[in-house]
Amino acid sequence: MSTITDAQVSVPAQRLLGKVALVTGGGSGIGESITRLFHIHGAKVCIADIQDNLAKQLSESLGGEANVSFYHCDVTSEDDVRGAVDFAVEKYGTLDIIVNNAGTFGSICPDIRDASLSEFDKVFSINVKGVFNGMKHAARIMIPKKKGSIITIASIASTTGGIGMHPYTGSKHAVVGLTKSVAAELGKHGIRANCVSPYAILTALTLANLPEALRYGDVAAGFRNFMRANANLQGVELTTDDVANAVLFLASDESRYISGDNLMVDGGFTNVNHSLGVFR
Ligand SMILES: NC(=O)c1ccc[n+]([C@@H]2O[C@H](COP(=O)([O-])OP(=O)(O)OC[C@H]3O[C@@H](n4cnc5c(N)ncnc54)[C@H](O)[C@@H]3O)[C@@H](O)[C@H]2O)c1
Repeated sequence: MSTITDAQVSVPAQRLLGKVALVTGGGSGIGESITRLFHIHGAKVCIADIQDNLAKQLSESLGGEANVSFYHCDVTSEDDVRGAVDFAVEKYGTLDIIVNNAGTFGSICPDIRDASLSEFDKVFSINVKGVFNGMKHAARIMIPKKKGSIITIASIASTTGGIGMHPYTGSKHAVVGLTKSVAAELGKHGIRANCVSPYAILTALTLANLPEALRYGDVAAGFRNFMRANANLQGVELTTDDVANAVLFLASDESRYISGDNLMVDGGFTNVNHSLGVFR
């Protein structure tokens, strides 16, 4: 029987009030939107990033260390991630949410015979080992508290081939597997683990890895036109704020029974295939 009352129908204005979050790569792009939205919703946020200046500026613009702080952290280093988690706990008293957002696309190599194993290691080190470091050290704090939400930014390349290079696609599939595995272990402690998988948005990451045809003229307009033309959902353009809203949902108590999931923020892109032109 439902226990929803009139008082519960409206969503609280600040959905993360009293919570503490760590956002890796929280200084730019999607991570910056997550940091800003979490702050608006009342969370204390620690940004763990390698871009000190961007992260410090963002922290200052949101009222400084009392609200949003910064810890220099390369997610590939377990010591750095351990340090970032301990810093957040020391500063704000606990850790309720971790968003494993830091990631790299890797360089473009459309022929596997030219693939560099060092490039493969670099992409897996940031996108997979970095995420595992975050999961491990967040769990260290969350298990004794018997609650927590672990969110990882995957990609449409987490379910579909042909969207990124092999290391990127492999790494994004891998974090979905890690998320399911961690959800399986940590469910008994009341801790949830989920992924959010966005379609494409122009950020520093995508800008650095544009397909050849999009590198000239008005790059931003060219990128947006290309992504719009290939999108399933028309009339809406995906923004970093849309991704942050999905992350907010998984971080908040509104999603309290959702775990082990991969929430696609892709307008149906990975569930439809227009190649045969049935509807277009
Ligand atoms: N932009 C897109 O179209 C898109 C689509 C799907 C998924 N994603 C994923 O979203 C996440 C964020 O990407 P974005 O587009 O906002 O890129 P971005 O380059 O704007 O931001 C990435 C952030 O991660 C930080 N970072 C990179 N390596 C790091 C490391 N080793 N340690 C700590 N921080 C590190 C960067 O300094 C930066 O602040 C990535 O995981 C990416 O794969 C992006």
